[in-house]
Amino acid sequence: MICGTVAAAALDLLLILAAATPFCFGANVTYDHRGLVIGGRRRVLISGSIHYMRSTPQSVDVAGFDTKIEGWGIGCGSNFCFLESARTNSRPGRKDLVKFVKLVGEAGLMVHLRIGPYACAEWNYGGFPMWLHFIPGIVMRTDNEPFKAEMKRFTAKIVNMMKEENLYASQGGPIILSQIENEYGNIDSAYGKSAQTYISWAASMAVSLDTGVPWVMCQQSDAPNPIINACNGFYCDQFTPNANNKPKMWTENWSGWFSSFGDPVPRRPAADTAFSTARFYQLGGSFLNYYMYHGGTNFGRTSGGPFITTSYDYDAPIDEYGLLRQPKWGHLKDVHSAVKLCEEALVATDPTTTSLGPKLEATVYKTKSGLCAAFLANVDDQSDVTVNFSGNSYHLPAWSVSILPDCKTVAINTAKINSVATISKFVRQLSPKDTTVEDAFSGWSWINEPVGISSNSAFTKLGLQEQINTTADKSDYLWYSLSTTIKGDEPFLQDGSRTVLHVSSLGHGLYAFHNGQLVGSAKGNYSDPSVSVDIPINLVSGENKIDLLSLTVGLQNYGAFYDTKGAGVTGPVQLKGSHNQATVDLSSKLWTYQIGLRGEELGLFTGSSSEWIMQPTLPKNQPLVWYKTTFEAPTGSSPVAIDFSGMGKGQAWINGQSIGRYWPRRVASNAGCTESCNYRGSFSPSRCMKNCGQPTQQFYHVPRSWLQPGSNTMVLFEEMGGDPTQISFATRETGSICSHISETHPIPLSTWMISDEEMRKQAQPTLSLDCPLDNQVISEILFASFGTPQGACGSFSHGECSSKEALSTVEKACIGLRSCSIIVSADTFGDPCGGIAKSLAVEASCKWLDPHEDAYGGSIRSL
Ligand code: GAL
Repeated sequence: MICGTVAAAALDLLLILAAATPFCFGANVTYDHRGLVIGGRRRVLISGSIHYMRSTPQSVDVAGFDTKIEGWGIGCGSNFCFLESARTNSRPGRKDLVKFVKLVGEAGLMVHLRIGPYACAEWNYGGFPMWLHFIPGIVMRTDNEPFKAEMKRFTAKIVNMMKEENLYASQGGPIILSQIENEYGNIDSAYGKSAQTYISWAASMAVSLDTGVPWVMCQQSDAPNPIINACNGFYCDQFTPNANNKPKMWTENWSGWFSSFGDPVPRRPAADTAFSTARFYQLGGSFLNYYMYHGGTNFGRTSGGPFITTSYDYDAPIDEYGLLRQPKWGHLKDVHSAVKLCEEALVATDPTTTSLGPKLEATVYKTKSGLCAAFLANVDDQSDVTVNFSGNSYHLPAWSVSILPDCKTVAINTAKINSVATISKFVRQLSPKDTTVEDAFSGWSWINEPVGISSNSAFTKLGLQEQINTTADKSDYLWYSLSTTIKGDEPFLQDGSRTVLHVSSLGHGLYAFHNGQLVGSAKGNYSDPSVSVDIPINLVSGENKIDLLSLTVGLQNYGAFYDTKGAGVTGPVQLKGSHNQATVDLSSKLWTYQIGLRGEELGLFTGSSSEWIMQPTLPKNQPLVWYKTTFEAPTGSSPVAIDFSGMGKGQAWINGQSIGRYWPRRVASNAGCTESCNYRGSFSPSRCMKNCGQPTQQFYHVPRSWLQPGSNTMVLFEEMGGDPTQISFATRETGSICSHISETHPIPLSTWMISDEEMRKQAQPTLSLDCPLDNQVISEILFASFGTPQGACGSFSHGECSSKEALSTVEKACIGLRSCSIIVSADTFGDPCGGIAKSLAVEASCKWLDPHEDAYGGSIRSL
């Protein structure tokens, strides 16, 4: 039996948790109405999703997640990803599910293995491998024998892989829970009566695999016993499971939201995420998982949608690059610590909730043995109030919860953020424009991708073919080509006649060529992937060659029968003349098809071909060009991105590894963004968006572990036309650090570790600053104001009242240290305006510690 504390390696929460009950592997896992019972002990658990496919093992290392993480059994393209594991891949690790689960266990965490096999997850085709679609007679996700046979084979395969390595908790491993299906209840009505038969079958099939740990289904209110039905959403406090003996579980608390090309980028405020979490534990919840805790990157062609961006940052507590997103990460950590301080009371009893007034609720967990924890909530989205609870008064901002682990003292209020905030930014590195060619890139070479059919494997068919059935998703691209002869006396060619080429396509994008020249293009979007265009063309007497390059941008991943949604030019395709309404319908003609590009067939992405041309006449802003260059990685250890400004749309490979689709020219719509974001009130993804009128995604992640010292190769395939010499590298860095603490903020959570109650009572609100990395120290205080400062990190300003001492006091306390803390009170700064509630706002910058400098890194100088 292996035991440990429930905490993440990177959390200093460990200290607080030292008093909490350790969990033991080698334990049976069961449940009752209050929670999962692990080794005979009820537990309150906090979890964060990380998809192993979206990170490299190196970035998983830096991810400071909480108690557990999930793994999806995600299929990829022609095979299941987990089978293409370290053992078969020259770049080991990213697809190795067993290794991932072991890593998580070694970090002292537990695992909820969400097997699916349907995953949704903004993953290509919802996680199903494409070949499933071609099994004769198959209908996905319903009572269909071929589908059920494959689903069982997959589920049993994963379970056995885990069992063979003793990875279930019942065997001493970290897996305490598994999920079958995913959110089927959201769409099951479309499958009629078969839906219920299917769900009953899925439940018994899962249970028969005998994992020794419970199974869950999410968003499935009719989940059969003993499967636990769990909730997904932005809020799940009002959720109740479908039987009295099942615990209230939240499998997806959406920490942000995904983004799609052409749309602005969603954000979810930390205070609202924290509010939803605290409300859940207030009202009897005992298991919560953040979806996502670290989103990562959709490398290769793995993103779904269609139109999901290559970045799967998700506004998650750990960003795409593995850096902490502050204050979200720190604030949630504080909420988790506060919940953990309540764990003993939470697992010991049922809650009692009473009203303290309109939209005000007090919930108490109190045992006869003297344990007591309370949650006070103000669910009004406008007014702050002061409430009276058990004889004391408490200030509750609108849309907030205070957690009182001893029923008296506030450990945290979800709207009062104690954590430091940081601004992360991309810092531009060398590019060909501002260096000599040898410095960064050693020049570009290129190969033109031919327009139209170039492959021996091209074939002809009468009529227009649906794309996904034709390509089996082996490539984004499908050529539709034909030649039509226009005679000199046809109305199209009469004086003054204008002709348009009309193309209707299910999507997702299209480039149209007439006699080898690009004449038009169109793209759909996430809410409507289809395209329908009228492109003016000048027909000529004789042969007119029409080449349509149709492309997908990730396959559908959500909705009833999503797997049968088609793509490509399904017609009509017509030539329409303005003279006499002349129309020629080309739809049912003999078309020639080519799956994929010549460059794909030749494997140009590896960089090795004798065809690369290197001449000063580098083509720019021309469609269908493969580009190649070599470069040196940016120095240092910060995460690396490529700024694709100047390019149109395409795919990029670094040393043969695909870093995904790039599309910086796709600009987000202009409407709906906000500079500052009000956390008060029910959140939806369109509430707090950014990047309006700018590229949805300009920067693309290159994992450092894919770069090598010396020369690296970059290959691009550019579809629409771009200038590769404008490409530059950037590193992801943390800019300023900030904090804004009022005199009414809760005292720091670390105070709860002080056993002397008297000392604890004297603790006061404290502003703490922490440089993000170990070998950094605070080098400059950019702003400090005690009084009534306003604004947000990066734009603080002094209010009407401000102490003259603030800057020098903070400088004295912090400069030269890795972290510092200052009590927020008139005793520290003098009182600039009596009778008014005051706060302290600070913005500081950190610098790398010079190894020769003698500094106090790590120590805390307190005032
Ligand atoms: C849920 C689904 C997840 C993910 C999420 C949105 O409905 O279960 O897999 O797609 O929505 O990001």
